[in-house]
Amino acid sequence: MNYSLYNKDCISGCKKHIEDNSVDLIITDPPYGINGDTLHKHYNRDEKNVLDGYVEIPLEEYEEFSKRWIKQAERILRPGGSIYIVSGYTNLHHILDALKETSLKEVNHIIWKYNFGVHTKNKFVSSHYHILYWVKPGGKPIFNTYVRFSPDEKDNKDGSLNYQDREDVWVINREYKPGKIKNKNELPKKLLIKMIQYSSNESDLVCDMFLGGFSTAHVAVGLNRRCVGFEISESIYEHGIKQMKQVKPGELTSTLRKPNGSIPLNQGKSWSTEELLHLQDRYKNIYQRVGSKGETIKILCEEFGRGRFSITNALNKINIDETHISNLDEYI
Ligand SMILES: C[S@@+](CC[C@H](N)C(=O)[O-])C[C@H]1O[C@@H](n2cnc3c(N)ncnc32)[C@H](O)[C@@H]1O
Repeated sequence: MNYSLYNKDCISGCKKHIEDNSVDLIITDPPYGINGDTLHKHYNRDEKNVLDGYVEIPLEEYEEFSKRWIKQAERILRPGGSIYIVSGYTNLHHILDALKETSLKEVNHIIWKYNFGVHTKNKFVSSHYHILYWVKPGGKPIFNTYVRFSPDEKDNKDGSLNYQDREDVWVINREYKPGKIKNKNELPKKLLIKMIQYSSNESDLVCDMFLGGFSTAHVAVGLNRRCVGFEISESIYEHGIKQMKQVKPGELTSTLRKPNGSIPLNQGKSWSTEELLHLQDRYKNIYQRVGSKGETIKILCEEFGRGRFSITNALNKINIDETHISNLDEYI
């Protein structure tokens, strides 16, 4: 079986079942400490379809609880492994404080904009969550830059689809499942697919410390990853584990969009000193010939088998001709 999902508290469960440095990716959505009994009313009016048994963390325990589970997350992640934590705003500071007490390093603060925000009359409608994307230092993180869109793909206004997909505001609707049972705060598959595609490879181990509706587990196994996780509530666990039996490994792979166009050969490889020196020479030669920085970078991308970001970052690093560098910003 390619998953181990336990009906247990995630802190003691991690200690017992997960070795140090063994997990490639953690995606998790802890209780928000805001009274879970009203959480589902934000978007699902039919309460009979919402799973009973959601275990909330009392506000007065939230800070300490966050520190304890995030310490475990740090321990089990492999060096270079990634963690995505979905959080509301109210107790986000506790999660951030807990992360800052670890060796983990921040990569992005992602805003997830969803539909069906909390209905309000005299103030703005709250319609986003925060996703904290951090990595454990000491190893190579996985970031599959071109796994969804190649660098050449454009929209009808000539905007790069790859760039748009990697912006840190994600507009992804919640799933509308009329008549179906779901967890109080079930994450949409599209959101999970995006994190899993960018930050893991097939057969990697993905962990969700708060399984809820088992959505992370479903998507991880559906994309041929292995999965480990915990859910403390017996009734929620029983429902989720039954559903998992119907999930076929790899069943979601055929639904993935395939990037269209070529992917830079050397994507993700680090630059050697020789290559950087060669890049410096080539930049000067080509620029003299074509007289345009954009065109020069395009040619360099082809020659070096790398994307535009990689070329412009490397040029900045080697401190090529100052006047060119200041203008390169427009291409980054
Ligand atoms: C926000 S929900 C997770 C939703 C999930 N991501 C989904 O898409 O359905 C949080 C879950 O954590 C569970 N939980 C609360 N305390 C826990 C603990 N100490 N260990 C494991 N699970 C816990 C709750 O019962 C709840 O189902």
